[in-house]
Amino acid sequence: MAQFKLPENSRVRPGRNHPAPSGAQDVRTFRIYRFDPDSGENPRLDSYQVDMGSCGPMVLDALIKIKNEVDPTLTFRRSCREGICGSCAMNIDGVNTLACTKASSEISGDVKIYPLPHMPVIKDLVPDLTNFYAQYASVKPWLQTRTPPPPDSERLQSKEDQEKIDRPSACILCACCSTSCPSYWWNSDRYLGPAALLAAYRWIIDTRDEATGERLDELEDPFRLYRCHTIMNCAEACPKDLNPARAIAEIKKFIVERQY
Ligand code: SF4
Ligand code: SF4
Ligand code: FES
Repeated sequence: MAQFKLPENSRVRPGRNHPAPSGAQDVRTFRIYRFDPDSGENPRLDSYQVDMGSCGPMVLDALIKIKNEVDPTLTFRRSCREGICGSCAMNIDGVNTLACTKASSEISGDVKIYPLPHMPVIKDLVPDLTNFYAQYASVKPWLQTRTPPPPDSERLQSKEDQEKIDRPSACILCACCSTSCPSYWWNSDRYLGPAALLAAYRWIIDTRDEATGERLDELEDPFRLYRCHTIMNCAEACPKDLNPARAIAEIKKFIVERQY
């Protein structure tokens, strides 16, 4: 899996060291980015030595243990603990991924944990996803129809047509893809990024939707769509094995094809 080098940040200073409890046999060091914008202090990297003998296997287990037993000020998002809510996305060992599905044993050496890259940080490992969600909403991720529904049934779809939207519908909006995309890093104010474009694709190919033309019109823009340069980081980063890059290429193809 591609490693994403975090931007050099000379302001990140060495932080506090939290040693393992006495008697711990199997100790791993977790080096965690800490930042509180309200404090006026620069970010720091705190070290926590965790007794893995009394810790669950996933990186999220270690974070919860640290928060519960060592440092209640450590801040991160999590909810489902099952890889389905997308809340616990962060940069672990240089890779954007979900803390609840990443085993600490998969990482050699110290476990380095940063927030998702190139996003404003609210606190510690919590990025500000306001723009990310606004971009998702901007593609109108819901069914748009112009004709009345059949009088005696729902708007039906064949099994084959449903299977086409099955995979893109599995997106959990974790933002691992968009925050691994260099085009998004530098143009996130205008480029929609892979997650929002995958959502757009999911509705463009939905055979029940009747706003395909408007959806393509909205995307046909040098920045919103065409800032994707097929670098493919997004597909490598997706913890659900989705392929936003291919979806983006398909959208570009639909736009070209309708011109002829
Ligand atoms: S393929 Fe496009 S969206 Fe994916 S990482 Fe590359 S530039 Fe970004
Ligand atoms: S496409 Fe994958 S990486 Fe991107 S937001 Fe959806 S689930 Fe996360
Ligand atoms: S806690 Fe829900 S995806 Fe990790």
